[in-house]
Amino acid sequence: MGDKKKILFVCLGNICRSPAAEGILRSMAEQRGVGKMLEIDSAGTYGGHAGNLPDSRMREAALRRGYRLEHRSRRIVSSDFDNFDLILTMDDSNYEKVCRMAPDPESLQKVERMTDYCVHFDVDHVPDPYYEGRDGFEYVLDILEDACANLLGKIG
Ligand code: 4NP
Repeated sequence: MGDKKKILFVCLGNICRSPAAEGILRSMAEQRGVGKMLEIDSAGTYGGHAGNLPDSRMREAALRRGYRLEHRSRRIVSSDFDNFDLILTMDDSNYEKVCRMAPDPESLQKVERMTDYCVHFDVDHVPDPYYEGRDGFEYVLDILEDACANLLGKIG
């Protein structure tokens, strides 16, 4: 086992929220010179978008803030519970699905809510932007930047 801290972000489709979180945390970690200390990935509880790049609306919104999102969507698999130290979910539905998949109590302890890391936003979930307009994507990025900055302060 290496010394890297391994973090997996999980949402529903793995094309909007979790790949954005992955890109933001990676960028923040690189800027702070701790990129090599982290392994960051993302996955979805639903596999219908597997192999796809993130939603173009999210890619464009993220790029305007300097985050290039190139992740390919994949569904969460049981080996993720062995391979990652921390599994951060975006909403209650993802949280409950991922918790139900956890194979043992140690794995279950790795599952947390992304919004528990927010400092500036008083929110209990990252809303699904898929059926929202442009503001919905900006709002998701605002929440994720808040959570990632604090997360990195704790682990980086
Ligand atoms: P995400 O957004 O969970 O943030 O990737 C969604 C993407 C796709 C769908 C729902 C949410 N969908 O129903 O296909």
